[in-house]
Amino acid sequence: MPYAMYPMPAYAVVCDDVKGFSGHIQRLGYAIQNMGGYLRCPFPGVPGRERSQGALHHSLAVPVPLTAPQPLRMMRTMSSPSVGHSLAQPVARILAFFNQKGGTAKTTSTLNVGAALAERGRSVLVVDLDPQASLTMALGVNVAAVQGSTYDLLTDEDRPLADLTVPTPVFGLSLVPSHPDLAVAELELINMLERERQLAHKLSGALPYDYVLLDSPPSLNILSINILVAARELVIPIEPHPLALLVLPRLFDTLRKVRRLNQDLQVMGFLPTKVQRQARLTQDMLATLEQRYPACPLLPAVPWSVKGAEAVVERNSILHYSSRSPVAAAYREVAAALEQQESVP
Ligand SMILES: Nc1ncnc2c1ncn2[C@@H]1O[C@H](COP(=O)(O)OP(=O)(O)O)[C@@H](O)[C@H]1O
Ligand SMILES: [Mg+2]
Repeated sequence: MPYAMYPMPAYAVVCDDVKGFSGHIQRLGYAIQNMGGYLRCPFPGVPGRERSQGALHHSLAVPVPLTAPQPLRMMRTMSSPSVGHSLAQPVARILAFFNQKGGTAKTTSTLNVGAALAERGRSVLVVDLDPQASLTMALGVNVAAVQGSTYDLLTDEDRPLADLTVPTPVFGLSLVPSHPDLAVAELELINMLERERQLAHKLSGALPYDYVLLDSPPSLNILSINILVAARELVIPIEPHPLALLVLPRLFDTLRKVRRLNQDLQVMGFLPTKVQRQARLTQDMLATLEQRYPACPLLPAVPWSVKGAEAVVERNSILHYSSRSPVAAAYREVAAALEQQESVP
């Protein structure tokens, strides 16, 4: 069947590492097969190759040498009958995990939703926008040795995103690391033109990712405003605790104000974290959330588990460290729910 006749969506695979190409394609073949699709690929020995029955997703592998830093980049392309022959404009979903309260599992959720999306075959970039650099450290990146960080992303016009991206131990997941210097970015931003839009500028245009996930600091400042202006979608991780409710009016008030700068911002829902189902307090809190914020759906809840902290020690995702745990299952459900809520085809 000619490529032009394949139903959408289609993926194009491009690679700058010709030696590693067949290995990448093989792993991708397995991932696509798991999703019920198949890989249209000119190379022999690739799983799922040429299978045409019951396919949901279709792919085209193109060995295009690139100068980009990642060995493999997978692009979701716009629907177009000629997509098989062209690398059309990629559409990245930019999602922020945001709550000005600390300890609500923003970082844990960014990492593990990212890992779950990568496991589903998506290409994901996580961006650590907290000067404490917890996400960076949780992915095993040495903060002291980074060559560039989100500090540079926000303050240096000449450092593009691709320059600052590093690989992680999670296949399909790249990172823009943080650095303690980010704490002073706020002072530098004050004197910059369009200071609220620095991150949005850097994330605009064609990005070689399906998802860009932003991890936020526990504050409401110019850094947080940059996140809210750059994101298209917002997930609010929240711990079922009465104190967690107290910060919400301020958060929604900020969102109302930010909408003047970013009309596209959409709240995808509360993500209840560290949930102890049997606790009465938890049930009451979740009911209160639904009652007070009916327009903000509840995403699948993540149970309380010591695995969260253990995975950080392992410098990897919970999905890798404890793949069959209820927390890993919950993050897979959250990723699936977010994919279903996708509004852009
Ligand atoms: N599901 C969970 N169960 C128990 N502890 C968790 C869970 N998720 C995260 N944690 C722990 O909660 C603490 C705060 O999580 P973190 O992701 O750093 O929050 P934030 O980024 O919002 O400050 C960390 O010690 C983390 O290991
Ligand atoms: Mg954090």
